[in-house]
Amino acid sequence: MGKEKIILTGDRPTGRLHIGHYVGSLKRRVDLQNSGDFSKMFVFIADAQALTDNIDNPEKVRQNVIEVALDYLACGLDPAKATIFIQSQIPELCELSFYFMDLVTVSRLQRNPTVKTEIQMRNFETSIPVGFFTYPISQAADITAFRATTVPVGEDQEPMIEQAREIVRRFNYIYGETLVEPEILLPDNACLRLPGTDGKAKMSKSLGNCIYLSESADEIQKKVMSMFTDPDHLRVQDPGKIEGNTVFTYLDAFCRPEHFERYLPDYPNLNELKAHYQRGGLGDVKVKRFLNAIMQETLEPIRNRRKEFEKDIPAIYEMLKQGCEVARAAAADTLADVRRSMKINYFDDADLIAEQVKKFSTPEK
Ligand code: TRP
Repeated sequence: MGKEKIILTGDRPTGRLHIGHYVGSLKRRVDLQNSGDFSKMFVFIADAQALTDNIDNPEKVRQNVIEVALDYLACGLDPAKATIFIQSQIPELCELSFYFMDLVTVSRLQRNPTVKTEIQMRNFETSIPVGFFTYPISQAADITAFRATTVPVGEDQEPMIEQAREIVRRFNYIYGETLVEPEILLPDNACLRLPGTDGKAKMSKSLGNCIYLSESADEIQKKVMSMFTDPDHLRVQDPGKIEGNTVFTYLDAFCRPEHFERYLPDYPNLNELKAHYQRGGLGDVKVKRFLNAIMQETLEPIRNRRKEFEKDIPAIYEMLKQGCEVARAAAADTLADVRRSMKINYFDDADLIAEQVKKFSTPEK
């Protein structure tokens, strides 16, 4: 096993990506891609995993593969530096999952906190699809097939990585050192999860409270200007609350010192702006206009790059196809090691054949 550092991460294609994804992971990925600290980077669109809870809507998954690919490219993921591919096109992942299934108990899956909450959120009750229930196993295959050392994901994925590590340890214990134990890389910004524009904890398409990376300038403005703030801050002169105030949460995530010079030179920094809001005398509209200027500045280059990529859709599929080929070769290499360790590489195992020859040529008594 090499000492090289390999990154792997992915997203389920169930919708266009939004600024929550950007703050929580996409921006980081691009930085990691460009850091030069990693010898390889794999980013994949987890369509097969998306089907585990969307079996009644496969068309949604199919439509969103390209949307996610466009969002990746728009944010600056670069196919020359990162292998971008589609999960379902790598059959080795199914094979590895099948072997991993023997290393995990039902009760261990039932105790996985992410699976537990997701089952509740989806109201599966007693009709949990087996594929959904076992997706931590297939996710462990996603990670280990590419010998990933480093998996940058949100904290909600922590139990998944922990379970993958357990599977690797068990596999290596039974079959000998073969697989790499991955490590999680959590976001380093304080703002781990961006709330929806309505202040609800989660951005979701059905609530209409997300700002997408591909959102038009008008839509961004509309969503920022109608954002949830402090419901008790009725008049400008009233003192206002920062905690739970979505506009300030977004400012924490997006505002940089130079934004004050450009758009709000009366204030030296975010702390001063917050202090004024808390003492009273600062209206929501002024803060929202400032946030809007920042959001426009941040999202405009992403949107423009996306538009450029949208002009040649066949080229995006071609890029994905090439990514799948590279990814498949990497996974096939790992699977060859796995089969050798498990001693199920019968036709390449000269020792096994010699052993059997000997066994069958021993004269019977
Ligand atoms: N479960 C992840 C999510 O919902 C997506 C994913 C699938 C993933 N396989 C992965 C992330 C492997 C990291 C590594 O966001």
